[in-house]
Amino acid sequence: MSRISYVNGAYVPHTEAVVHIDDRGYQFADAVYEGVTVRHGRMVDLEPHLDRLWRSMGELRIAPPMDRAPMRFVFSQVIAKNRIENGFLYIQISRGVAKRDHAFPTKPVASSLVVTLKRLDVDGVIARAGKGVKAFSEADIRWGRCDVKSTSLLPNILAKQAAKEKGGFEAVLVDKDGYVTEGSSTNMWIVRKDGVVQTRSTADNILPGITRATLLKLAAELQIKVVEEAFTLEDAKGATEMFLSSSTGCATPIVELDGQKIGDGTPGPIAKRLVEAYQRYMDA
Ligand code: PDD
Repeated sequence: MSRISYVNGAYVPHTEAVVHIDDRGYQFADAVYEGVTVRHGRMVDLEPHLDRLWRSMGELRIAPPMDRAPMRFVFSQVIAKNRIENGFLYIQISRGVAKRDHAFPTKPVASSLVVTLKRLDVDGVIARAGKGVKAFSEADIRWGRCDVKSTSLLPNILAKQAAKEKGGFEAVLVDKDGYVTEGSSTNMWIVRKDGVVQTRSTADNILPGITRATLLKLAAELQIKVVEEAFTLEDAKGATEMFLSSSTGCATPIVELDGQKIGDGTPGPIAKRLVEAYQRYMDA
């Protein structure tokens, strides 16, 4: 059975799902997106994802293609039509189709909405989290609006590819002052020697991760102390534990950074508690 995708009002076979070549998402990356994990057929943290999508559109002055209720319906239809239990739901909204010009179209055009779903081996993600992953630091060469979830992802792509070619799972982005911002597609966390968990503040030019927000709630329930403060690459290398968070990666320990072991090179106890709490949360 072919995958079914949604493109501007129609559910179509994935192989036939296309947008116009003048779509501003295609030409300028003038678009925003969300990625929602589907676990046992249910969208994880859908409402916060919709809140962030609406915020991204608002910040870029892209008109919502429809209200939230019909959009929720489109998502559920895509999930039902694909009969996928564990997946990654991708939602992209561009400013729309217009003759190429950097400035916004003078006549209002309808924004484009594309929704796709692919299988995500969530159990594989959980198994990987049990072992931990390797990461490599890369320079953060992005812009000053990383809080907006824009499809303009070239710096992220280049960093991820560089880390991958070194044998890493993720790139740890480091700004010019030596501070870790986030991962190429994840938020970053460390556990300090005093047992306190530290993660950069969302006021500090990073994507406000939905998984990050859920982990903050879970940490509070588990009485794990967290501070939202920037840390340096050196802090990370000297930390007892490190982990990443994202919709597709859940919470995953980082056991090696730039070829150096973090702690004893295996997932540490605090990360493990949070990883397991997040997995229970997803399954609930
Ligand atoms: N990435 N930081 C960046 C730069 C991201 O792209 C993402 C998400 C995150 C984590 O956010 P969340 O917990 O809301 O998924 C942090 C998605 C998964 C992606 O680009 O595919």
